[in-house]
Amino acid sequence: MGSSAAAEIKFFEIINNNKSLKIPSVGLGTWQAEPGVVAQAVITAVKVGYRHIDCAQIYGNEKEIGVALKKLFDDGVVQREDLWITSKLWCNNHAPEDVPLALEQTLKDLQIDYLDLYLIHWPARIKKGTSGFKPENFIPTDIPATWKAMESCYDNGMTRAIGVSNFSSKKLADLLAVARIPPAVDQVECHPSWHQTKLREFCKSSGVHLSGYSPLGSPGTKWFNCNVLQHPILKSVAEKLGKTPAQVALRWGLQMGHSVLPKSTNEARIKENFSVFDWSIPNDLFAELSKIEQARSVRGDFLVNEGSQYKSVEELWDGEI
Ligand code: A2P
Repeated sequence: MGSSAAAEIKFFEIINNNKSLKIPSVGLGTWQAEPGVVAQAVITAVKVGYRHIDCAQIYGNEKEIGVALKKLFDDGVVQREDLWITSKLWCNNHAPEDVPLALEQTLKDLQIDYLDLYLIHWPARIKKGTSGFKPENFIPTDIPATWKAMESCYDNGMTRAIGVSNFSSKKLADLLAVARIPPAVDQVECHPSWHQTKLREFCKSSGVHLSGYSPLGSPGTKWFNCNVLQHPILKSVAEKLGKTPAQVALRWGLQMGHSVLPKSTNEARIKENFSVFDWSIPNDLFAELSKIEQARSVRGDFLVNEGSQYKSVEELWDGEI
């Protein structure tokens, strides 16, 4: 890993239900992309060359993304089958009968007929119709039952692949033990200051593709404080390569073997984040990056309280913290 890697790395192969699919390695993140600007960001990104858009019902912007997608298709900029579109099942729709309804709503909002990938957003469940993680809203997850409903959505063509997000190695192993269709992807926080070492090994050994959200450490979010783009090692590697810290963080992810989902609504940064295919990080500098201290930023404290099945952050991540 990290070796020459001069190749473009535009796609990764993923396996879903024994079928091979190609997931574009750089996807546009849409978490915290405000309605009002997200549509233009999607249009810009696709025109720049992005072929992968990462969405979620809870981001509250799927309708606007749908308007952008429709315009892109109507204008002939891209065809549906050339895009990879991911979305995620929110915690209040885990009941098996609610899974296809939630997916249907997402498809309606996005104005498309099928997803490429549908993920269980978190291994946590709140009552249908509730929002927010107050203690009284929680009910225990039944991931095997929710997963069966996800499998049905795959069977009936609503999505080309299914997977999970924010699952620890243990939770992923528990699911793999009961799944008829193994999860194709685990989408988790991943950047040079949180490598996901244990989960990465487990994913590799079990054929699950790791996809990295917050690949830039989400600078600007109010939810946590990561600052990886300011790290002196990352900055010095970027300087040596004549690239920006963001580009090095993203290229690091590609050379590690996972897809990356940088969010931007700014045209210059959307372009910058996609300019990661015609150069690579040489071995010596790649090794430098592994000296960056490790810490999980997305701890999920909001899922820990007396009503939740998780009484500590350690429990949520099964010690991978
Ligand atoms: P903006 O949308 O104004 O570009 P992540 O993908 O890790 O969640 O990070 C997203 C955050 O990083 C957003 O605040 C985004 O702001 C900012 N961002 C995106 N691309 C870059 C970049 N190339 N350099 C610095 N900040 C960036």
